[in-house]
Amino acid sequence: MKRDLKKIISEMTLEEKAGLCSGKDFWNTKEIERLGVPSLMMSDGPHGLRKQESEADHLGLNESVEAVCFPAGCATASSFDVELMAKMGETLGKECQAENIGILLGPAVNIKRSPLCGRNFEYLSEDPYLTGKMAAAYIRGVQKCGVGTSIKHFAANSQEYRRMSSSSELSERTLREIYLPAFEEAVKEAQPKTVMCSYNKINGVFAAENKKLLTEILREEWGFEGAVVTDWGAVNDRVKGIKAGLDLEMPGSDGYHDRKIVRAVKEGILDEKLVDQAVERNLKVVFDYIDHRNPDAVFDRGRDHKKAVDIESECAVLLENNGILPICVDKKILYVGEFAERPRYQGGGSSHIHSSCVASALEMAKKKQRNVSYVKGFSAYRDEKELYEMKKAIEAAKQADVVVVFAGLPDIMESEGYDRTTMSMPECQNELIEEILKVQPNTVVVLHNGSPVETPWAEKTAAVLEMYLGGQGVGEACDRILYGEVNPSGRLAETFPLRLEDSPCYLYYPGDGKKAVYGEEIFVGYRYYDTKKIPVRWAFGHGKSYTTFEYSNLKLDRRKMQDGERMIVTADITNIGERDGKEVVQLYISDKNKTPLRPEKELKGFQKIQLKAGETKTVSFEIVEKDLSYYEEMIHDWYAPSGIYQIRIGHASDEILLEEEFEFVGKQMLPMRVDGTTTVGDLLKDPRTAEAAYKLFGNVMAQNEETAENSEGEADAEMLKAILEGAPLKSLVSLGAMTGEEQEQVIAMLNRAMGSEQREEK
Ligand code: BGC
Repeated sequence: MKRDLKKIISEMTLEEKAGLCSGKDFWNTKEIERLGVPSLMMSDGPHGLRKQESEADHLGLNESVEAVCFPAGCATASSFDVELMAKMGETLGKECQAENIGILLGPAVNIKRSPLCGRNFEYLSEDPYLTGKMAAAYIRGVQKCGVGTSIKHFAANSQEYRRMSSSSELSERTLREIYLPAFEEAVKEAQPKTVMCSYNKINGVFAAENKKLLTEILREEWGFEGAVVTDWGAVNDRVKGIKAGLDLEMPGSDGYHDRKIVRAVKEGILDEKLVDQAVERNLKVVFDYIDHRNPDAVFDRGRDHKKAVDIESECAVLLENNGILPICVDKKILYVGEFAERPRYQGGGSSHIHSSCVASALEMAKKKQRNVSYVKGFSAYRDEKELYEMKKAIEAAKQADVVVVFAGLPDIMESEGYDRTTMSMPECQNELIEEILKVQPNTVVVLHNGSPVETPWAEKTAAVLEMYLGGQGVGEACDRILYGEVNPSGRLAETFPLRLEDSPCYLYYPGDGKKAVYGEEIFVGYRYYDTKKIPVRWAFGHGKSYTTFEYSNLKLDRRKMQDGERMIVTADITNIGERDGKEVVQLYISDKNKTPLRPEKELKGFQKIQLKAGETKTVSFEIVEKDLSYYEEMIHDWYAPSGIYQIRIGHASDEILLEEEFEFVGKQMLPMRVDGTTTVGDLLKDPRTAEAAYKLFGNVMAQNEETAENSEGEADAEMLKAILEGAPLKSLVSLGAMTGEEQEQVIAMLNRAMGSEQREEK
């Protein structure tokens, strides 16, 4: 329905307008009956509905309506399946319609900088490309149903420790390359109705009043058309917030901040037009939903539970398998660990869902009449050795053919609000696993956790299956995979380091409470481990299948790519095993030009494909200049140096199976200002000055070679060459290679050459 929002706003008092810049209560926006402005309800998010009808809170403490808990972000990202994510979004969108929720608060896309972040379970990945694609798919799915989303938390809020006040200190390049791209992709591809700004400061400025982020980058650069909403209670200075582009404060401050807005307008400190603009954006979000309201939508919890099981079946990651999985049904099987009975399937805090039904793996085994017995062995809730239980488990393990230990992190060890202090599993679990392995080599470990754990026993186990926090369908999905009804196809969306100390930000995380210094910069996750060649337990992208895939026939449609061109890359993937299965084909790009501080490789494409036993499919990727680029602070933009790049296709970041090089020829060159500190080497290397530099220094170089020939030979020649190349123009004067006056003339001449080149480029 077409509405004149400006006209509606013109009929509002200043107080009413300011009022519309904050919520009515915990979950609802304000209505203005006389103008026909309705209220809209929001709800967390992201992996199910936490609709609170009575007492509200943002920490998942009070009751919410019964809903379906889908796998958390850690799991859904591991599906590497954008269509699956979109379908989950659509299911959630329909549920929202049935519950009359106008905005679902998700997806949560903060990059996993450290394995310790308490909220990693809700976030998607350590990789910005994967995160962006999955987030956009989720938004597409939900918004297809006429329900808005709120991508969160914008930005650089990758820890729980002092998440509400500390300042994330990071370089422009780090922000642009690692922490913003997922938001950018989501905004450009899927236009979320709202973006939720984070609590923290970014380089000293609160996200809630950060004009650079909320207006210049989000709207002016990326073209965001929706409203910016705060994380719950993130406002610092409301007037600054309005000026920065913050439209809606949630849940509100009992009118306190609204009154500040009114006062600031009256005192001439705040332009009323900015208030009008915020109100208009908020109204647009409200009416967009109202216009797409579907009162006939039904929340079919039974049907959606089945979807939750199906989705989790695509997310679980088979980390190790010596062939024991799938388990032969005629084996005598023992389940150990209370998680078998009470799976941990979601995290604590604002995303906590009141689940409609949860079936455990044990329940499923009984239902399917599998030959399974069970010993608790350890508690799913605390790290406490129960000696009697342990002994019983070890004795039973001796009698079994196969043991499946259901292990994981108890709730208390991982939640919103605080970070983990260790990457270890509970000691009681590690100990029992080790003891069982001594008597039973056919031991499988199933994990229920939201982020990487240290697994010192991994190499001794027969198999390890990562179920993550897999939602209420986790037990059923686990049963399907253990017994081969489903061939596992999840891949890790994050690296499992061997030890916490190996993780990239170990020295910096979580900071002193005032500042969180992102000192590892762009070297997050595999970008760090691969570049530093640090061995890890399981690499980014890793995941096994019950079948085997063969890669062949990598083709690049060109060997030379000019800027503005698109390169098509194809490869053939064959399922050479005996089972149907799904493969996640991953494409990485490496810069082979010795460009300083570039990761060894970066993910630039992935596709999940289904292959019948024996079947071959050709996958195709499109590569453009941006895929080769890094963020160059000198020009405040993306930049791809001309030179050689490598396309690398494989099964995981540590399992590259096909590689080809090509040349990129770009027109853009970085600006260079020649002065006394510019080195001869820089001038010789740069095509804009190379010719002139050879004319100037060719003689000296020839002399050097002569000297070298007459003396000790090669080593001297190398030394003299290196010294000359490293010599700044100013030192050539004292070395007697040119006079001071000549130096000045040379600098002026080179800058003229540089300037004319740059003009031509424009
Ligand atoms: C969380 C948000 C959540 C909001 C509302 C905050 O504490 O950080 O992710 O959407 O509460 O529950």
